[in-house]
Amino acid sequence: MQIRAAVLEEFGAPLSVQDVDLEEPRAGEALVRLEACGVCHTDLYTASGADPSGYAPTVLGHEGAGVVERVGPGVQSLGPGDHVVTMFSPQCRECVHCRSPRTNLCLAIRAQQNLGYLPDGTTRLSRGGEPIRHFMGTSTFAEYAVLPEIALAKVMPEAPLDRACLFACGLSTGLGAAMYTAKVEPGSTCVVFGAGMVGLGAVAGCRLQGAERIVCFDLSEDRLALARGQGATDTLAGGDDAVEQVLDMTGGFGADYTFEATGNVAVMAQAVEAARMGWGLCTVVGVAGKGETLDIVPRLLITGRRVCGSSFGGVKGRDQVPQLVERYMAGEIDVDAFISHRLTLDDVNRGFELMEAQDGIRSVIGF
Ligand SMILES: NC(=O)c1ccc[n+]([C@@H]2O[C@H](COP(=O)([O-])OP(=O)(O)OC[C@H]3O[C@@H](n4cnc5c(N)ncnc54)[C@H](O)[C@@H]3O)[C@@H](O)[C@H]2O)c1
Ligand SMILES: [Zn+2]
Ligand SMILES: [Zn+2]
Repeated sequence: MQIRAAVLEEFGAPLSVQDVDLEEPRAGEALVRLEACGVCHTDLYTASGADPSGYAPTVLGHEGAGVVERVGPGVQSLGPGDHVVTMFSPQCRECVHCRSPRTNLCLAIRAQQNLGYLPDGTTRLSRGGEPIRHFMGTSTFAEYAVLPEIALAKVMPEAPLDRACLFACGLSTGLGAAMYTAKVEPGSTCVVFGAGMVGLGAVAGCRLQGAERIVCFDLSEDRLALARGQGATDTLAGGDDAVEQVLDMTGGFGADYTFEATGNVAVMAQAVEAARMGWGLCTVVGVAGKGETLDIVPRLLITGRRVCGSSFGGVKGRDQVPQLVERYMAGEIDVDAFISHRLTLDDVNRGFELMEAQDGIRSVIGF
């Protein structure tokens, strides 16, 4: 079939919205009609050429939600009409990582996915016979997409898909960092650095876990206001004295849990230093630039602070994204507050401009 899609032709150049060919799903795959897709920093990062593992041509987009149209042979967990959220972080439920409760990093299709291919090493996307790669295994800046069954989370049909799409990346990453990676305990003191989509999600996750105090740092007063809306009890301007401020607020000890959601390695160091002696856990969620390193004085670790990272919030997508969407539908997560702009696919480059200008939290493309 022919579909409209936003193609990255050349790094650093605007995406080109055009007709491309999409083949039918093969074994273990499903054809999804996209209803909505968020515009995320990772799309922009790859489009800019900064990502060393980027490739072109490819159809970008990974924060999608839609409806299954058809499935290929052997697909058992999904059928036509199912509402789904796309997963750049799949869950096969069989590999050694999926069988462990300790990680969400499914091993099943990693190698091919990282290269932009579906699990059998080919693409369903093409143009005039030339293959077009599947960005992050998802390619959801398009009217339709073919994805592996294991990369689709089936969500309750009542959930509006133009909100559910945010659970495909940023929102689940933040929520999950608090809920599944750090496993914040009730009554805790938490500090979140950064109040973008991810940091705001972490604030909401700390609240859902029953944290008593949630401190959020950002440079933008507008974003700090959003953090208060998600449950932050204290909001402060980020800067060189952030650690001192946390120590002052916690009797000199530091916080039970800290979260880094800026991608800045100096802020990551602050997040480690702001974690409590004895048991403070620092969860790094932000993605640093290529080649950058995190500087930690080892004494901070010897005296009981711990540091961990979190990819997609530690969320096992097919099992836990539907649960997060249920909590949203139960009124526990305010998703509307994150959606600042609504765009059409033809406006996708405007979504990048808004993100670069830090205008709003999320642009959502409707199809
Ligand atoms: N680990 C994962 O799976 C995963 C998934 C998605 C995104 N990310 C990463 O998470 C990070 C955050 O993503 P986002 O979409 O929320 O980005 P964003 O750019 O919207 O938000 C970052 C926020 O950090 C704030 N900030 C900058 N410097 C600061 C400082 N010194 N102190 C306090 N706040 C400061 C900015 O004002 C901004 O609001 C990025 O690095 C992104 O690449 C990671
Ligand atoms: Zn797996
Ligand atoms: Zn993303």
